[in-house]
Amino acid sequence: MSKQAYHASILHFLDDPDKVGQCQSYEYFEDGLLVIEDGKIVTVGEASKLVTQIQPDQIFDYRGQLLLPGLIDTHTHYPQTEMIASYGEQLLTWLETYTFPTEAKFGDEDYASTIAELFLDELLKNGTTTALAFPTVHVQSVDAFFEAAERRNLRMISGKVLMDRNAPENLRDTVETAYSDSKELIERWHNHGRLQYAVTPRFAPTSSEAQLEAAGVLLKETPGIYFHTHLAENLREIAWVKDLFPNSKNYLDCYDQFGLLGKQSIFAHCIHLEDSEWARLRETGSKIAHCPTSNLFLGSGLFQINRAVSENIDIGLGTDVGAGNTFSLLKVMADAYKVQQLNQNLFSSFKALYLATLGGARCLNLDKSIGNFLPGKEADFIVIDKEPDDFLAFRMQRCGSLLEEIFTLIMLGDDRCIRATYICGEVAHLRNEHQRA
Ligand code: GUN
Ligand code: ZN
Repeated sequence: MSKQAYHASILHFLDDPDKVGQCQSYEYFEDGLLVIEDGKIVTVGEASKLVTQIQPDQIFDYRGQLLLPGLIDTHTHYPQTEMIASYGEQLLTWLETYTFPTEAKFGDEDYASTIAELFLDELLKNGTTTALAFPTVHVQSVDAFFEAAERRNLRMISGKVLMDRNAPENLRDTVETAYSDSKELIERWHNHGRLQYAVTPRFAPTSSEAQLEAAGVLLKETPGIYFHTHLAENLREIAWVKDLFPNSKNYLDCYDQFGLLGKQSIFAHCIHLEDSEWARLRETGSKIAHCPTSNLFLGSGLFQINRAVSENIDIGLGTDVGAGNTFSLLKVMADAYKVQQLNQNLFSSFKALYLATLGGARCLNLDKSIGNFLPGKEADFIVIDKEPDDFLAFRMQRCGSLLEEIFTLIMLGDDRCIRATYICGEVAHLRNEHQRA
């Protein structure tokens, strides 16, 4: 296959700014070239040097635009696309009022397919190329999601929601069907092309101990599989968990006692953790999906990023659609900044962009495949237009450095700035082609 090159300003991260210092954490080529072949990265560097060395067959001219690795959403719910931005409730009543009635529709595979297609289009429009996504309790919802992701050749992780109590009848499975349906789905989808499977109890209140135990068996039986759930999001939720699991030491222990912690385990939210829970997350190498937009929308609380940094726990960023009221990880980064302002902490735009790219890949243990432009990685990347309209151009032109430009992009940007999204070197979204007539 031919070598293709993309001529643009190019930015990617090599490491965590909090670990190696901001200056060492990234590479920036103002006049850069990204070279790819067979959907994989060949090299990245200064255009003037590479053009003569590599002699690409085709050069795409994106000069004046910024090329970044595709964004990674470490926690979202595709069935909640249609109820995003629903008014007035906090977590538990929001679930009952809006979420459960919506999710009940996903036993119909055609319906689930329609929403999965819409959701993935929205991701690509917003520059998100990989996500860890909840479907619903229905097998059909998982098949519909993975089929839609496969059609687009996307790197996606998902897995049937397990829920055998404290949910409406039409959304409940059992210990046995949770196990047998998951087993079949794992067989069908785990490591199928770019797709991977996550064992996904919704959260402790909607699974019996026997079901969490079955989740532990599934994890043991399939090495490399993920575990994905919610943890310590809301104070009423935590009080409820105490009642439901009187023998557990704390919320995290409900999962820990069944062997559900580890480096492939991703816990969304983690806002109200006890010291012993932070310690167990650290000891087990478990990961956190930080979802600031959702946490503000549902009034759940303020996540302590600094604590995760000092505990050396990997975090990623999540939209948590539909409790998060945007598909845009740029907007999620802006909300992460504001949440840290309320915590009296500074959160740099480079750390934000690291978390949305290489940090997200590390959180999902996918950094061998995606997250930056090192040779051999899969060529999922986005082209950012920093000046998609007159006002953004006006503001951007007043920035004195790359750092200021990135901060402005995060604070004012959204899907207007995503000029193009590429999946394994193929165009998956071009902004002007998706505008409504
Ligand atoms: N906890 C249990 N289910 C959910 C959900 O769907 N969204 C959020 N934000 N929290 C949850
Ligand atoms: Zn969620």
